Amino acid sequence: MTTAVGTPTLARTRAELDAALRAPSTGAAQARHARAVVMTMGALHAGHLSLVRHARTLADRVVVTIFVNPLQFGAGEDLSRYPRDLEGDLALLTGPGLLGPDDVVFAPEPDVVYPGGDPVVRVSAGALGESFEGAIRPGHFDGVLTVVLKLLHLTRPDVALFGRKDAQQLVAVRRMVRDLDVPVEVVGVPLVRDDDGVALSSRNAYLSPDERHRARGLSQALRAGEQAAGGGTGAVLTAAREALAAAGVTDVDYVALVDPDDFAPVPDDHAGEAVLALAARVGTTRLIDNTSVTLGGEA
Ligand code: PAF
Repeated sequence: MTTAVGTPTLARTRAELDAALRAPSTGAAQARHARAVVMTMGALHAGHLSLVRHARTLADRVVVTIFVNPLQFGAGEDLSRYPRDLEGDLALLTGPGLLGPDDVVFAPEPDVVYPGGDPVVRVSAGALGESFEGAIRPGHFDGVLTVVLKLLHLTRPDVALFGRKDAQQLVAVRRMVRDLDVPVEVVGVPLVRDDDGVALSSRNAYLSPDERHRARGLSQALRAGEQAAGGGTGAVLTAAREALAAAGVTDVDYVALVDPDDFAPVPDDHAGEAVLALAARVGTTRLIDNTSVTLGGEA
């Protein structure tokens, strides 16, 4: 891994992005790929920085996009109050081992990404956009995939890194890349947890101290599910639901065991790997979390 010295180029427009991408890279990292992209909505935390660090090991030039994509927020969601702090984000991104002078931060305004207003033609996530997160947030994954495809076109990376915390998003992006023959390698990066077990998320900033304490219930439920894996799918789901209730997390959207490849619920007698995924509201803040479990098939 290289230690970055110097600051990345900040691009706010398409022309600035193109110029930054055309500038020759020193190739100092001598990595497998010429260019990696890490897409974010800003309000960066250690989870994002771990994506960037990972990207740093894979590519000579890392492009980080910072864009709060209006298309993926439904009516009544937190688009207007979503945390935004470009200066703070840039400071974090120039920390040791992160971005350097070969790298680019693309932080466009909505009219740069959508110059003609809301796009008429969009990517459809199909059935993947209708289950779990998609069922609760209709249109969310269409909005995510539309902006991801646009940002892939604008940044033209060899490799794109996404966090495994948004497990359904990662499945949807992989599926889009496969179904639409998008020439990019998609890499999933493990999620990062705070010391109290809570998965890092920009939305954690909304939690009051009491809610933060209760939010630990999500990771406790995942641990309980993992420990019950020997008992099969029913035992895992029951253990996770009981742990959520015990932690006072009662506003639960779903607790599910799904196939890591297509996010479809696994059958009751499933043996092998599955993703234990859950979503719940703590106060007014909606949180998601997941873990991998290996089931023995004793439903
Ligand atoms: O995961 C996110 O932060 C967003 O969904 C993404 C991939 C940056 C698209 O807006």
